Amino acid sequence: MIILGIETSCDDTAAAVCHNGEIISSFVSSQDIHTAFGGVVPEIASREHEKYLSIAVSEVVRQADIQIRDLDAVAVTRGPGLMGALLTGVSFAQGLASGLEILCIGVDHIEAHIFANIISRQEFIYPFLCLLISGGHTQIWRVDGLRCYQLLGETRDDAAGEAFDKGARILGLSYPGGPAIEKASKGGDEFAVDFPQAFLKSNDIEFSFSGLKTALLNYVHHQGKEYVRKHLKDIAASYQWAIVHILLSKLLQSVELTGIRSVAIGGGVAANMRLRSLSKEMLTGYNVLFPKKNLCTDNAEMVAFLAEKYLEAGFDDDTDIKVVPNLRLSS
Ligand code: KG4
Ligand code: ZN
Repeated sequence: MIILGIETSCDDTAAAVCHNGEIISSFVSSQDIHTAFGGVVPEIASREHEKYLSIAVSEVVRQADIQIRDLDAVAVTRGPGLMGALLTGVSFAQGLASGLEILCIGVDHIEAHIFANIISRQEFIYPFLCLLISGGHTQIWRVDGLRCYQLLGETRDDAAGEAFDKGARILGLSYPGGPAIEKASKGGDEFAVDFPQAFLKSNDIEFSFSGLKTALLNYVHHQGKEYVRKHLKDIAASYQWAIVHILLSKLLQSVELTGIRSVAIGGGVAANMRLRSLSKEMLTGYNVLFPKKNLCTDNAEMVAFLAEKYLEAGFDDDTDIKVVPNLRLSS
């Protein structure tokens, strides 16, 4: 089976081809244009997707050394994400599939992030826990199989990626904030500033990052620009520590609560190297998996791969694709 995946939920225009469980080509065009605005501008994102979609698809078909007619299905992200961006991808996918007279399959972006962990790891066994940390989500899922998910906990307000993005903006760093804070924190003292970690002492699987962002804002106002510039690496390292430490503390609590010893970490924040190194210290003895770095952030490999899993399981019911910007993965 040869499936073309398309991903346009936010500011990455991505396409990939999956052939019998193997990714044979992949392309991502990240929209750097948003950096100048300090965040994603929805209108611009849709227009950029329109510009680059056909280039992305031609490129993955060429890389895969196939003809477009060889495709058996087109898979596309239908939510959650930005309305215009999603609509651009879904319209393109539906047009292509209808021209080729093949199936068009709508995929849940969050479910795809979970399954990014399984690409190239067919031996992966259920159940496992998934810490899903992106620009819009911070959740811990129990995964018992395809479409068998239970939400153990999530954030009450900002997502972990959003905390990185807003923190970077406060510190005068560029967008996206995660890589910028990670870079700025190199060689910094993680314990220089004691930033708050909400719910650290509670047994509940819950997150909140809005207080952390306010604490950083107050700290910066109090210390002044010159002090912040001089101590940037310590402040960035302490802020990053507050985020990665609370994420892993809650994941550890979830492991202890459920007795499930396999965990997967996915979404853009999973690309963070401090999170990866700290997970080795905090979750020793557990089976901890991260996707390859390029599969943490948005990509179409996970879309094509998950669609193939749907088809293998006989779920080809989603031909009338509805775009749902606030789509929630059902528990
Ligand atoms: O999964 P993703 O690409 O898009 C969404 O579905 O939201 O995640 C994007 C988020 C952004 O907030 C970005 O700052 C964060 O992932 N991110 C990182 C890193 N790379 C991307 N956060 C921390 N460290 C990184 N290295
Ligand atoms: Zn994502």
